[in-house]
Amino acid sequence: MRSALVALAGLAAAVNAMPTISTKGSKFFDSDGNQFFVKGIAYQLVPTDPLIDNTQCKLDSDLMKELGANSIRVYHVDPSEDHDDCMKTFADAGIYLWLDLDTFNTQIEQDAPHWNQSQLEAFQKVMDAFQQYDNLAGFFVGNEVLTTGNGSVAAPFVKAAARDLKAYRDTKKYRNIPVGYSAADIATLRPMLQNYMACGDNSSEALDFFSLNAYEWCGQSSYQQSGYNQLTENATDYNIPIFLSETGCREPRLRTFDDQAAIFGDDMNKVWSGAIIYEWIEETNDYGLIQYGEKVDPAASGAPPDGYTRSGTPTPINPDFSNLSNHWKTLNPTGIKASAYNPTLTPPPCPGYTSDVWEVNGGVALPTVGQTFDAGVKSSITAGTAAASGTGANQASSSPSATKGAAPGSPVREVQGMGLGLFGLLVGFFWWM
Ligand SMILES: *[C@@H]1O[C@H](CO)[C@@H](O)[C@H](O)[C@H]1NC(C)=O
Ligand SMILES: *[C@@H]1O[C@H](CO)[C@@H](O)[C@H](O)[C@H]1NC(C)=O
Ligand SMILES: *[C@@H]1O[C@H](CO)[C@@H](O)[C@H](O)[C@H]1NC(C)=O
Ligand SMILES: *[C@@H]1O[C@H](CO)[C@@H](O)[C@H](O)[C@H]1NC(C)=O
Ligand SMILES: *[C@@H]1O[C@H](CO)[C@@H](O)[C@H](O)[C@H]1NC(C)=O
Repeated sequence: MRSALVALAGLAAAVNAMPTISTKGSKFFDSDGNQFFVKGIAYQLVPTDPLIDNTQCKLDSDLMKELGANSIRVYHVDPSEDHDDCMKTFADAGIYLWLDLDTFNTQIEQDAPHWNQSQLEAFQKVMDAFQQYDNLAGFFVGNEVLTTGNGSVAAPFVKAAARDLKAYRDTKKYRNIPVGYSAADIATLRPMLQNYMACGDNSSEALDFFSLNAYEWCGQSSYQQSGYNQLTENATDYNIPIFLSETGCREPRLRTFDDQAAIFGDDMNKVWSGAIIYEWIEETNDYGLIQYGEKVDPAASGAPPDGYTRSGTPTPINPDFSNLSNHWKTLNPTGIKASAYNPTLTPPPCPGYTSDVWEVNGGVALPTVGQTFDAGVKSSITAGTAAASGTGANQASSSPSATKGAAPGSPVREVQGMGLGLFGLLVGFFWWM
């Protein structure tokens, strides 16, 4: 009797459990050996943590299941809260979580970049809180940290964060949860940023996956016209998984989501691992797939601060919602079985220094915890900036999530330009290389 009960309990746990996600070569697989393609929705109803209110999680996950999503992306959580109920609710709907480890005061900044003990500990707390859930698919160490050529000096700090969180994961004997980065789609930083995040012959110091927030396929477009063909060309030999961590251009209307057919179809599914649509809730940026009632006058008594209700029963915004749902219903690539897949791709070379374009000195030693970028120091991990040369093409990201990640009132800090003498020295060093 007793042993029968134990066996039954074991069975119940097994039924509740979801296959976990890990990487092999350039692909994601679940623990049943099936390739995994992300069909995701960006989900951040409230700034601090949308995974606490289980009633809300249930209402939303039911409709997401109907939509055909298998993932959500959440940008900020509070690791001190209890997430058991929401995580189980999403698991019951067959939905995985892709989670950003940073929050408003811990994210890595592109100005005066640093990676320190408080940031590390804050990231660790989020990992500790979420690693236990089978439907935690992966962690991001940053969202759109780099957006400019001279801001590329922050890239080694992102990689240092990935190194330290992967080491922490392994020390704590957590399962092999993928640790990656979500990049702003800045034409002038591609493909250096993408290659840099995977480069080097020590996989402990490279990301487990790379992802891009890309709003390139807008209105009536095509694989060629959108530039997706170029993105794919430059990812074909990429040795780690790559996917779109935000997509879903909304102008011009209609919002067709026709790009999904390319992403999950023959054009891209051998290279890309899916896409996350920005975003679930309709708010000021107007990217929502659902709303919780009509917008109200923010000045009215008891109204939400921006007029958008952030809880309740979600109502689809059509035809956007049904267009996406219709696509996802028909797009079910099976990919390859893990057992049949023998990865052969090797990491790309670390990109060289080009002033104002990519200012990281190849595969330089990554910063240690506590290190702050100092362009004026000769031993700097990066090549630094040339004094007042070039235009500093300041191509800002148009991604709607960029401002979400920004620390409110974050102080503007300047990085000192490097003297010409040292710059010459570095160029000489490069020539020699
Ligand atoms: C780490 O940097 C943050 C600013 O991003 C600062 O508030 C914090 O005090 C620093 N922590 C340490 C240990 O230096
Ligand atoms: C990059 O250049 C811009 C404009 O020249 C400057 O405002 C910014 O502080 C620089 N950033 C870094 C990280 O050097
Ligand atoms: C690879 O990187 C890790 C983390 O920085 C380090 O501990 C390890 O010694 C490196 N391995 C080799 C062979 O350099
Ligand atoms: C693809 O890579 C080439 C060569 O590195 C580069 O010139 C081009 O801009 C890249 N294309 C995209 C879309 O990033
Ligand atoms: C998207 O919506 C438009 C307008 O209702 C419709 O004509 C089109 O067929 C829809 N596309 C899909 C894939 O459902």
